[in-house]
Amino acid sequence: MTPAPLLVALPGHEAAAAALLGHGVHAPGELLVDRFPEGEPRLRFVTPVAGRRVDLFCSLARPEPQLAVLLLAALGARDMGATHVRLVAPYLPFLRQDRAFADGELVSARLFARLLSASVDSLVTVDPHLHRIHSLAEILAIPAQALTAAPLLAAHVAGLVRDPLVVGPDAESRQWAEAVAAALDAPCVVLAKDRRGLRDVHVAGEGLAAHRGRTPVLVDDIAGTGGTLVAAARCIAEAGLGPPLAAVTHCFLEGEGLAAVEAATIGLVATDSVAHPAGRIGLAPLLAAALRDPTEPG
Ligand code: R5P
Repeated sequence: MTPAPLLVALPGHEAAAAALLGHGVHAPGELLVDRFPEGEPRLRFVTPVAGRRVDLFCSLARPEPQLAVLLLAALGARDMGATHVRLVAPYLPFLRQDRAFADGELVSARLFARLLSASVDSLVTVDPHLHRIHSLAEILAIPAQALTAAPLLAAHVAGLVRDPLVVGPDAESRQWAEAVAAALDAPCVVLAKDRRGLRDVHVAGEGLAAHRGRTPVLVDDIAGTGGTLVAAARCIAEAGLGPPLAAVTHCFLEGEGLAAVEAATIGLVATDSVAHPAGRIGLAPLLAAALRDPTEPG
């Protein structure tokens, strides 16, 4: 019988990996990462990886400290004889830089995809931010699964809100807003966004006022500066609806942005793809179902 794939958590991902292990798809694998006095990482697979499939769990929400260790672990596992190295990255970074916006600017999305394609054999991620690049297959040379957290967001919202009106704050959010609305059997309105600066965001749209009395639920893939949520909440208030609950897949809000969202009395729930107080929706069931699927590569 083929042994279960090893699940190896990169530093900082132990709790999320433990939740995933609870689904019975994997055997636990251990990677020890300690540091030289200068801070450079030194890696050791405590669990032998030769002849095993290895799932490396690393959110990549903070790619700068995480990426070097991940690449070393991935290439090292292959060198040590792992039969397939799959990256489980709930958040896939660099995708917003999907074209050069100024002379000399690098298209990080494509460069990062090349780096990953050379380092791992396959990839599983959640709600990647695809805009001008339409699918991961366009930029990756390895098989990739892009899962969506929409059903988990919907199930969580269902437990919090009685008569929801799902609101997508911009055109790009339509895919997630409509999926959540369908799961909740709720109406959906998608607004239009005009971003003039990092925090100078304007949101407008029609069709909200017809749903007065419902609780607005803003659905988006990412909350970064919070500018989108705050502008959408303003538009919702102008239409005569109450303060919204925001349900986002990847929540990076902190400092000024988080304070602005709180000041706008926007409730906030998110998945645990990013370590954040709002990240109460565990992705483990979604990831486990995908990683268990024998038809998927790896
Ligand atoms: C944009 O296309 C994304 O879907 C999000 O709306 C955006 O990343 C949110 O960013 P911020 O919180 O900085 O407005």
